Amino acid sequence: MKTTFSKEILPYFIFLISICSFAQNKSDRELILIDKDWRFSLGHLYDTQKDFGHAEGYFSYLAKTGFGDGPASSQFDDRAWRKLDLPHDWAVEQSFSESASYSHGFKTAGKGFPEKSIGWYRKKIIISKDDLGKIISLKFGGVFRNSKVFFNGHFLGTEESGYNGFEYDITSYINYGGENTIVVRADASMEEGWFYEGAGIYRHVYLQKTNPLHVIENGTYITSEINNNNNAEVTAEVTIENKGNYKGSVEIIQTIQDVSGKQVVNVSENVLAPDFYKTAKYSSKLKVNNPQLWDIESPNLYHLITEIKQGGKIVDRYETSFGIRTIKFDPENGFSLNGKPLKLKGTNNHQDHAGIGTALPDELQYYRIKKLKEMGSNAYRCSHHPPTPELLDACDKLGMLVIDETRLMGINDYHLKNLKRMIERDRNHPSIFCWSVGNEEWNIEGSVIGERITNVMQGFAKSIDSTRPVTVGISSGFKSGISSVVEIMGYNYMGNGDIDAHRKEFKNQPGMGTEEGSTFATRGVYFTDDAKHYQSAYDKKPRPSFYSIEEGWKFYATRPYLAGMFIWTGFDYRGEPTPYGWPSVTSYFGMMDVCGFPKDNVFYLKSWWGDKPVLHLMPHWNWQGMEGKEIDVWVYSNCDEVELFLNKKSLGKKKMEQYGHLEWKVKYAPGTLEAIGYKNGKKILSDVQKTTENPEAIKLSIDKENSPNANVSVITVEVTDKKGLHIPTANDEITFAVKGGKILGVGNGDPTSLEKDQFIDDIVLTAITNFEEQKGTTADLPQQLISYSENDWTTAFKDRDYKKQAPSYVYRGQFELKEYSATKIVSFFYKKIGVETVVFVNGNKVSASAEDPQKYVLNSNMLKDGKNTIYIVATPLQKIKDWDVMNTDPGIIQVITPAESCKRKLFNGYAQVIIQKESFDKPVILSASAKGLKSHTITILGKE
Ligand code: GAL
Repeated sequence: MKTTFSKEILPYFIFLISICSFAQNKSDRELILIDKDWRFSLGHLYDTQKDFGHAEGYFSYLAKTGFGDGPASSQFDDRAWRKLDLPHDWAVEQSFSESASYSHGFKTAGKGFPEKSIGWYRKKIIISKDDLGKIISLKFGGVFRNSKVFFNGHFLGTEESGYNGFEYDITSYINYGGENTIVVRADASMEEGWFYEGAGIYRHVYLQKTNPLHVIENGTYITSEINNNNNAEVTAEVTIENKGNYKGSVEIIQTIQDVSGKQVVNVSENVLAPDFYKTAKYSSKLKVNNPQLWDIESPNLYHLITEIKQGGKIVDRYETSFGIRTIKFDPENGFSLNGKPLKLKGTNNHQDHAGIGTALPDELQYYRIKKLKEMGSNAYRCSHHPPTPELLDACDKLGMLVIDETRLMGINDYHLKNLKRMIERDRNHPSIFCWSVGNEEWNIEGSVIGERITNVMQGFAKSIDSTRPVTVGISSGFKSGISSVVEIMGYNYMGNGDIDAHRKEFKNQPGMGTEEGSTFATRGVYFTDDAKHYQSAYDKKPRPSFYSIEEGWKFYATRPYLAGMFIWTGFDYRGEPTPYGWPSVTSYFGMMDVCGFPKDNVFYLKSWWGDKPVLHLMPHWNWQGMEGKEIDVWVYSNCDEVELFLNKKSLGKKKMEQYGHLEWKVKYAPGTLEAIGYKNGKKILSDVQKTTENPEAIKLSIDKENSPNANVSVITVEVTDKKGLHIPTANDEITFAVKGGKILGVGNGDPTSLEKDQFIDDIVLTAITNFEEQKGTTADLPQQLISYSENDWTTAFKDRDYKKQAPSYVYRGQFELKEYSATKIVSFFYKKIGVETVVFVNGNKVSASAEDPQKYVLNSNMLKDGKNTIYIVATPLQKIKDWDVMNTDPGIIQVITPAESCKRKLFNGYAQVIIQKESFDKPVILSASAKGLKSHTITILGKE
């Protein structure tokens, strides 16, 4: 079995790799990332023919085990399908249309697009004979959505939610020592949220091997208590399962390793193995002296190694990372971490990024969390669903607190199962400090039904994890219903009720602002232009019942009883393009745009959320044509006083109010606008906006956080003038070329951009129609097309008497090429209908390709726009047994239109390119060019 794990992983996971390889040496457990080399095609929501005949069989997969039909069958020929690597989001690849979903950013996929709502994924894997006897499973991080999984034609199950991780046991179905086929059918025809959710296998997939006696999925639960002597008593609970016949005792060894990987404590216990297919829970206590606590600044992570020893051999080794820390909500004093008060400076976010949609490579999770931390944020609300697991890893490792939220409120299996899965998957993450069991459930928020449901969900959550409180985000009044029973009151917007009054009534209920803001701003825009759908970036009250970021923060910062607030949102996302609508396709709420480029609000937050001196002057100073007109000049800063200068002339010094900003009205004259910040009367900072000259050169830079060891890099694209100054108004279209890597996607943060996110080859599969035959008289096949009598054609294979076949047959069919041009690559993927075969297209003999004897790449000079004719002359296949079902499908024509060059306009000075390395062994070279500008090329190095 080829292990793809080490190739695809980034530095943050090097630790994990070492664990995995260590695990491979020490136990039967292996976790193999199988993201690479999948085949993909869109199917169809209700036209089964366009869904490759799936579920059409007389006996289909629900009738008989192993009867997966169409692509679900292992026999299905997917050679003409597109090859891709996971994670993948097919929605982001599509174009935009006004008729598409507002919530999903007007991408022409999913709801309303039956031909783009079903995605089929197929992958072949070899599983060694040596694995016989192990328990082998497929682990999916998550698929959007309603996925069905098949293995070697066997139906394994359906997972409705697009946000759960799930696992299927494939042990009994494996072809050991040979090829096996994994098939996933994802159905994204329904939306779960009202925001962009992507489509397809947008999280990782693993093949897992374990001993029959093993720790179950998410099988550990680690809690700790810190006593007065500054020691932590760690309780490590493990659930093991026995899928084998072993009866007798086993040893369970629990070891804690500290941040540096050093063993700090170890306990072991002999227990009786659970019975066949039963599970059992064991709990151990381990003492950690002077623990290095997990917190925002020092996110110290411990590791629990759980080993199962059977007959002297370690049969399973399971690793869990965890943190030792205390959390507390207090109705008077808000939140505290490790006994110290900590105001929550949070953002809400959806998982969606420029260019790549929901299919975030792990590096992008780190990129985004780091951007939020740079802004001074210390908390993240996963709105409104459980996140991709790697996001939580990033929060654990970088020090970001998390509210983890389930998707839908309710008390039946669907809702409670999803809640349980979320808590069991995530409860060892020290970053998570609160579970959210709902958001703005308008139908029940204020009613007794909401109250009852919350009571059940809250109690249920506690039964799985007693260490964290539960919240719900409430928006329609803060008095009755859910608000009266929820453990931590989640206020969604000051404008939706009287927070102080609620607090007076419910004195023992801690609270926090689970949503605040929902302000509108477009990066780099300083005059609202409704015609163009651009909102100025000055922080402002967006709607009568919503408040500005500054108003929101002043409210929360000055009320110690409130634990903090979560801004709606950290980043813009596709969908909800309020206050406009088509052709705007992304939201305007973000403190940063969809790429992570900061809007000016970021600097307000840096000033009052961060702990470093900040001075930020806005707007830019390129206002040609506005000479003499007044411009609003704002300063975000935490200095005591700020003085503003235009072309060296002072425009006055102003005192900064706490949590405020400063404003001047300045008559525009080109030149230099400068702000000087003072603390205790001393100049400590300055910020400058200079009128730039004409654009001259493109500048590419690699995000500073990226290391050569990263598989994916984020590149910033900008334009500079002859002095090297960034041009904040540049909107040039830049064309990119890459060697040694792949451009995963491009973006620029323009909410109205309908440009492509991705540049991928377009593949169309065309059937051969009117398939007819004539009998041949000899088994010698012609090497030139001969003429056949028009009268002798009959429908191919109709009433074929397999006992009395002719020595050869000639078949004829047609295929349509729409808007054919020589730039398209046309191939015929032949499916055997004969022993010896000769193929002619439009009268020309074609030869099979070297790589695949059943593939014919058709030369452009033999093809034409419209109808093309194919002849297949072949000696017939013979039935061995009477009941053999013979193939009568000649195969499929694949038409590839190669992707055009990747390009993107800058939006107010910036664009972003996301690059993936082909391999770590060689560098990636990215070049950018545009008309009238100097090109730029940069090299992203391979592994150091
Ligand atoms: C809230 C909701 C969010 C988002 C936001 C936009 O009501 O919880 O998901 O829709 O409004 O303002």
